[in-house]
Amino acid sequence: MTARIVFRITVVAVLVYSAVTQKCPARGRSESSIIGWMLRGHVYDTLLAELPFTCVFKCRQDNRCQSFNWVISLLTCEFNNRTKEARPEDFIPNPERSYYPRDLKRVPLGSIQELPAETCDEIKRSEGHAVSGKYWFSTVKSGTFVMAYCNMKTNGEFDIDECSVSPSVCDINANCSNTRGSYYCTCKAGYTGDGKTCQESVFFLINFFFLDTDECSASPSVCDINANCSNTRGSYYCTCKTGFTGDGKNCQDIDECSASPYVCDINANCSNTRGSYYCTCKPGFTGDGKYCQVPSECNSYIDLDEPGRYWGNNSGSVICDQRDPKFVNNKWYRFVGGAGRMMASYCIPKSSCSTHRSSWINGDHPTSLYTTVTTTVCMHWGSDCCERSYLVGITQCDGYYVYKLQKPTSCSERYCGVLDANDACFGTAGSDVCACNPGYRGSPCSGR
Ligand SMILES: *[C@@H]1O[C@H](CO)[C@@H](O)[C@H](O)[C@H]1NC(C)=O
Ligand SMILES: *[C@@H]1O[C@H](CO)[C@@H](O)[C@H](O)[C@H]1NC(C)=O
Ligand SMILES: *[C@@H]1O[C@H](CO)[C@@H](O)[C@H](O)[C@H]1NC(C)=O
Ligand SMILES: *[C@@H]1O[C@H](CO)[C@@H](O)[C@H](O)[C@H]1NC(C)=O
Ligand SMILES: *[C@@H]1O[C@H](CO)[C@@H](O)[C@H](O)[C@H]1NC(C)=O
Repeated sequence: MTARIVFRITVVAVLVYSAVTQKCPARGRSESSIIGWMLRGHVYDTLLAELPFTCVFKCRQDNRCQSFNWVISLLTCEFNNRTKEARPEDFIPNPERSYYPRDLKRVPLGSIQELPAETCDEIKRSEGHAVSGKYWFSTVKSGTFVMAYCNMKTNGEFDIDECSVSPSVCDINANCSNTRGSYYCTCKAGYTGDGKTCQESVFFLINFFFLDTDECSASPSVCDINANCSNTRGSYYCTCKTGFTGDGKNCQDIDECSASPYVCDINANCSNTRGSYYCTCKPGFTGDGKYCQVPSECNSYIDLDEPGRYWGNNSGSVICDQRDPKFVNNKWYRFVGGAGRMMASYCIPKSSCSTHRSSWINGDHPTSLYTTVTTTVCMHWGSDCCERSYLVGITQCDGYYVYKLQKPTSCSERYCGVLDANDACFGTAGSDVCACNPGYRGSPCSGR
């Protein structure tokens, strides 16, 4: 549709409208149509109409109708439930439309339930004259239209008295106080609540004393995950669990391992965990970590100190350990003094240390402190380096070894001592040729 045709139709329409309403647009009265303008945002209904006067009649039949926009290009009218006077901010230019105020019997805004107002100002602007009184509003109680008093006396601003609404916007047991632009509710004496709902105070007290809410049962917890929650009447408190520190709402792990004094034994490692710690005795020590001991055999043993027990000290007499009352099965023994300091760990010549069957350890000594190995001790006799053998336990103590020995079963056998790991000849099976370890000379191999 070209602009010229639009213009012609509009002119015709305006003339027809003027004929119907018997008003002359040329005089520019406020009641006349306004070409190229519209009221935005207040359309409650539409109608297809070839000419605007169809809409004029339709508008007269609906109490809500305050004005309408005629959409020339769509030959449609849009019925508004406001006038441009009520909502000047929504009255805007639009080349497709013309604005028509209702010509006859316009219902004043807010005067009937079907046409509620939003503010007192709107009524004042729409109707021009301000009369204080009750009007219908859509904005006082949500979802429903209620009558409330409009105070039109104040100059400039007009206030809705929400407290004039019946039934009250507050609880039945509350006082309502109107303020400019709003209101508040206060529960009457003997009642508690926010004013929109009020409870008899006695119920509040019953709740307080008998129906106490258990804050501790809330999820997520009101306390830290590592805190105990204790409910009290009307409140609660939080206590960090053992191993944690803080105010109960926030609990941090305590590093017990860095505490002073040390929480574990001096011979234990400490390991911190969340909320706790544990102690582990260092290798060789026994105990629960809070208390660690060296192996008891390092403190409690029987001395073997006879000089003739030394491997290279063959006095010529034949001595038998079986007849020595200090030998008892599974007791711990230490070589000291003239007997040497340890046992040899290779086959030594028979008839060493003033006996027939000379002993040696057929295995390794423990290589770390306070550890124990179990191995065998051999007796060299005849043509056999290990003519008979016994179980032996060896513990490395601080600077020495102790041996868990068995009482020999026959004569003559003897537990022989050496000074160190290389301090003896090799006793080859069947021969007593003295061959020293490299670096050792002589018989005994004490020359270095
Ligand atoms: C008035 O029109 C507006 C905009 O279309 C609409 O939201 C409102 O519901 C109408 N009011 C009534 C009472 O019909
Ligand atoms: C509520 O209103 C009554 C009557 O006006 C008054 O006596 C009472 O003190 C008011 N109570 C409160 C809590 O405002
Ligand atoms: C936390 O609660 C547990 C279990 O009820 C209890 O054993 C512990 O002693 C409490 N700890 C504290 C710090 O209250
Ligand atoms: C103890 O701590 C030391 C040094 O941190 C570590 O080398 C060792 O393996 C730990 N021992 C044990 C039993 O945890
Ligand atoms: C050998 O034995 C004698 C006495 O039996 C003793 O005096 C001497 O010190 C011993 N020799 C060694 C090297 O132990």
